[in-house]
Amino acid sequence: MKDLRDKTAFVTGAASGIGLATARALAARGARLILADIDGAGAEAAAAELRATGVDALGLALNVAEEAAWIRAGEAASAFGPVRILVSNAGVGGGSGPLETYDPEVWRWVYAVNAHAHLYACRTFLGAMKAAGEPAHVVLTSSLVAIVPPPISTAYISSKFATLGIAMGLRNELADTQVGVSVLCPGMAATGIVATTARLRPGAAEQGEAAQTAQNMTGVLAGGMAPGPIGERVVRAIEADEAFIITHPEWKDMAAAQFDELLAAFGESADPDYPGDDIAALVVANGARRMNVAVGR
Ligand SMILES: NC(=O)c1ccc[n+]([C@@H]2O[C@H](COP(=O)([O-])OP(=O)(O)OC[C@H]3O[C@@H](n4cnc5c(N)ncnc54)[C@H](O)[C@@H]3O)[C@@H](O)[C@H]2O)c1
Repeated sequence: MKDLRDKTAFVTGAASGIGLATARALAARGARLILADIDGAGAEAAAAELRATGVDALGLALNVAEEAAWIRAGEAASAFGPVRILVSNAGVGGGSGPLETYDPEVWRWVYAVNAHAHLYACRTFLGAMKAAGEPAHVVLTSSLVAIVPPPISTAYISSKFATLGIAMGLRNELADTQVGVSVLCPGMAATGIVATTARLRPGAAEQGEAAQTAQNMTGVLAGGMAPGPIGERVVRAIEADEAFIITHPEWKDMAAAQFDELLAAFGESADPDYPGDDIAALVVANGARRMNVAVGR
C-alpha cells in the first residue's frame, strides 16, 4: 500500500505503547486515524493530541474481546471514513506460574484479547476492505516469542502463536486480493504492558512469586526498545507489503537455532512407500490458487 495519505486507519490498543506509536507514524504519512482502546479516555486523549497537529482523528472506547463492542465501533468508524488500514494490536501479558496452576478465566481472557479479537476485527472491517478493490492492509501484533519462545507465560506465548498463525493463514487467504497482511513480531519494547495487564486481568491480583516476576518484567521491559521506532517500522512494512515485521534482529541466531531444531526433525518418512503429500491438491481443494511459499510435493 504505497500511498497512505487520506486513508482511514483503525488501530487497537492505540492509547499507549506500540499502538499509539503506530497511530502517530500513520498520521505522519497523512492517514486519518481511529484510535480504539479499552481505555477510552486514553484513546480520546491520543486522538486530541493528533487533532491538535491538524490530523483527522477519532478516539473510541473498545474492548476488543467483546464482539458487540466491535459492532458499535464499526458503526462509529463507518461514519468517520472507510477503513483501509486495520492494525489489530491490543494485547495483554499472560502473567506467570506453572501451566497446571493457571487460572482458566485468565487464560480465556488472554486468548480473547490477544487472539480472538483478530477475528472480530476482520469480521468488522475486512469484508469492505476486500470489496473496495483498492489497496488496503491488515497488521496483527504477535511477538518474537511466537518464533523463539523464552521461558515466560505459556498463555502469552501460545496466544501470540495463534496471532502468527492467523496472520499467515490470512495472507494466503488474501493472496489474490489487494489486501496485504503483515504480522508484527517485536522483541522487548519499553511500554506499560505489565502494569496494563495487572490493571485489566480478571480475578485476583497475582501474589508471591508471580507478582515478583511481574515486577522483574517491568524492570526488564523498561530497558526495551522505545515504541516510536517500532511504529515507524510498521508503517514502512505497510508501504512495502512485508509479511513479517521483525524489529529486533538480535533474536536471529536464536531463531536460526530454533528452526534448525525443527528442520532436523524432518527425517525419514514414517512410511517409506508413501509418495508424499500432494500439497497442490490441498491448495486446489480449498479453492485457492496459490500459497505464499512455493508448493512442493
Ligand atoms: N512491550 C513488549 O515488549 C511487547 C513485545 C512483543 C509484543 N508486544 C505486543 O504489542 C502489543 C501492544 O502492547 P504494548 O507493549 O504497546 O503495551 P501497552 O500496554 O502500552 O499497550 C496495549 C494497549 O492495549 C490496550 N488494551 C488492553 N486490553 C484491551 C482490550 N481488551 N481492548 C482494547 N484495548 C485493550 C491497553 O489499554 C493499552 O493501551 C500487544 O499485543 C503486545 O502483546 C509487546
